[in-house]
Amino acid sequence: MENFNLQQFSLANKNANDYISRINVEFTHQDIQPFSIESGFFIFTLMPSLRCSLNCPHCYLTKEQRRNSEIMSIENLKITAQKVDEYYSKKNIKNKVMVFYWYGGEPTEMGMDYFLSATNILNNIFTKEKGYFTKHTVLTSLLTIDTSIWFPFFQKYGDGHFQTSFDGLMRGKNYVKKWEEKIKQAKDFGLEVGTISVVNHELLKDGATKVMEYLAELKVKEISFLPFMWNEQNDGKAYNKYAPTMNAWSDFMIEASQYYFEQKSKGEFVPEIGQLSFILHQAKQPSLANIAGQTLFLLPNGDFVLPDYKNGYQEYMRYFGNILKEDFANVLQSKERRAYLRKQLLRDQNSECLDCEHANKCVMEFWKKNRENDDCFGGKRYVDWLLNYAHENGLLKIDNKTVTY
Ligand SMILES: C[S@@+](CC[C@H](N)C(=O)[O-])C[C@H]1O[C@@H](n2cnc3c(N)ncnc32)[C@H](O)[C@@H]1O
Ligand code: SF4
Repeated sequence: MENFNLQQFSLANKNANDYISRINVEFTHQDIQPFSIESGFFIFTLMPSLRCSLNCPHCYLTKEQRRNSEIMSIENLKITAQKVDEYYSKKNIKNKVMVFYWYGGEPTEMGMDYFLSATNILNNIFTKEKGYFTKHTVLTSLLTIDTSIWFPFFQKYGDGHFQTSFDGLMRGKNYVKKWEEKIKQAKDFGLEVGTISVVNHELLKDGATKVMEYLAELKVKEISFLPFMWNEQNDGKAYNKYAPTMNAWSDFMIEASQYYFEQKSKGEFVPEIGQLSFILHQAKQPSLANIAGQTLFLLPNGDFVLPDYKNGYQEYMRYFGNILKEDFANVLQSKERRAYLRKQLLRDQNSECLDCEHANKCVMEFWKKNRENDDCFGGKRYVDWLLNYAHENGLLKIDNKTVTY
């Protein structure tokens, strides 16, 4: 339960044949239950504020959202949590996993008072006695935080762990300098650090080996390399300037993974790569995954949403329901969410994905159209490379002695 890459949390209870036999039929709500929020596994992505004082060129939020977003009141957050808890208490599931993933905006800009109240409310509602396993992970840019306040918070409420985004020089030299300083402080404080990088042109210039060496030197525990998404805010200039092709993403990942395996074989410290672990983990248990049934994003006004795509692969947030106006079961069973999950299960009807052996383990997190004349958004070339490497090196043998992933 360490890596908070969403893909790491895919619950997968159905086998591939079962999936293949079903892809041409209409799915009912029951069909998606065994590997979803409905079964008691919820990566609850909390965006109670979209505020952030930075201006990252790739950001999916408008400047208006970053500066003036409303903040969900503590009272409304409590109502939301109570409604989710009521839903589970009616279902009578014994063990439930709630991963509170604090996203944004910059979540820390809501302030420590807010955070303390919010985490205490959530922890008091989703208790062990009721069968909940809970975990809080905060994703922060690190730049604007007062470390003397936030590091003790991560220690106590995040089990000594937090996540931070690292995008190299895309955010500027000054950013990297300040960020590095704070990472060093976090390590000195005894925290475990995970990073998320949007693979962008600046990281490509450095090259994967250098990026891995840099993060290894900083003793980052795990890293996740996300494909760069096209959205309304970065449309045009920023997207064209920074977004690499998926071919470039796959090449980057292959190089990063080569470095990872080399270092491992020498017994040297190297950060875990989220995508690498995810793909190998999924490969070991042929099953249905990548259906986005384990997560929802909560917006400041109570809307539950998830990323969806228009114009092929341009991202926007798709609305499923508002928790302040209806109960949680209604949101989960809404027409919109059912249509969305059907789209995930049918891989957005992409013929190449429906035929693809990697559909349960590629990095296509929310399904969209692939770009012509490029590797797909699942990073097929990387998945192929990794699986070949793993087979050749016996990493996928499933017996008591050799299972590595
Ligand atoms: C918007 S930030 C919010 C959390 C926090 N403020 C931070 O900077 O880490 C969330 C993550 O989304 C990533 N992100 C933003 N725009 C993106 C895009 N166009 N494609 C892929 N990831 C993106 C960011 O780099 C960051 O890792
Ligand atoms: S690897 Fe590519 S082609 Fe295969 S399922 Fe994933 S996105 Fe589709």
